[in-house]
Amino acid sequence: MNTITEPSPLTITDISQGQKIAFIGCGNMAKAIINGLVASGWPAKQIIASNPSNDKLIPLANQLAIATTNNNLEAAGFADIIILAVKPQKLTQVCQQLAKVDLSKKLLISVAAGYKSEKIAEHLGQTPPIIRAMPNTPAFIQCGASGLFATSQVNEQHKNITVSIFEAVGKISWVSAESHMDVVTAIAGSSPAYIFLMMQAMIEQAVELGLEQQQAFTLVTQAVSGAAQLAQATPEKSLDTLRKEVTSPGGTTAAAITSLIGNQFESIVKQAVTASVKRGQELGNQ
Ligand SMILES: NC(=O)c1ccc[n+]([C@@H]2O[C@H](COP(=O)([O-])OP(=O)(O)OC[C@H]3O[C@@H](n4cnc5c(N)ncnc54)[C@H](OP(=O)(O)O)[C@@H]3O)[C@@H](O)[C@H]2O)c1
Repeated sequence: MNTITEPSPLTITDISQGQKIAFIGCGNMAKAIINGLVASGWPAKQIIASNPSNDKLIPLANQLAIATTNNNLEAAGFADIIILAVKPQKLTQVCQQLAKVDLSKKLLISVAAGYKSEKIAEHLGQTPPIIRAMPNTPAFIQCGASGLFATSQVNEQHKNITVSIFEAVGKISWVSAESHMDVVTAIAGSSPAYIFLMMQAMIEQAVELGLEQQQAFTLVTQAVSGAAQLAQATPEKSLDTLRKEVTSPGGTTAAAITSLIGNQFESIVKQAVTASVKRGQELGNQ
């Protein structure tokens, strides 16, 4: 896996020049990317979102002034870049529908977990350039983490535009093997949920022990955000070193770490990551 890259020196308006993007499926992930793109300067008039129901489209059209439609073919026809953002279970049907569109001059980006590029091409009945991307919902505030994989039809220009889209909503990392995308899903796409669960447990226990909910929320979310930022700001220090710097022998942190290790915390986390990878593989084989 490559190292995480820093944002490109070109502005988003330089890179987005004229490129139109269609989102097929406008749920949580599409909304997160669209919000991040518009916030970072991607012209709203170059974005269209397609969804069967209007309840998700109306707020986006009103708040961000992007175009919307209930017709996937209309969206695909409008765009140079088509982002497939439906659930993996809906992707076969969507690809079969898009088979009617000439995709030879378009770039397809799928954010669907598990669903292999080969299967996308099979259901499209054509082999356009396809990139698999695995972002996460912090993209909504431009703090996303996205893994990217390019198929052999993808050229440098496609890669550059994809980088500009996903760097607009956070940091990116290319992987060289498609099988690694299931690991990316487990540690980036899905992992905010694990962190939210851990924060929720810490807050609940703090409240149980006497803190106000709001106090506990502020302290826990800031501690998690601060720990992540410290790790990123001091790459010369390992996570092990950073942990030891908080942990005086016989102190309060040591008591918590001893409890976590005694309760197999690391093993539990590793099992969760493996379960996510396995589910990604299952979805890919359906
Ligand atoms: N959520 C995440 O954190 C995350 C992270 C990385 C990747 N992903 C991937 O992103 C994809 C979308 O996930 P999500 O969480 O955004 O799901 P979601 O909130 O359920 O959004 C999916 C959207 O697709 C729409 N849809 C259903 N059938 C459609 C069709 N035939 N044509 C066009 N749109 C259709 C749904 O509309 P209705 O609700 O009206 O049916 C819904 O708005 C998934 O493949 C997932 O693996 C998600």
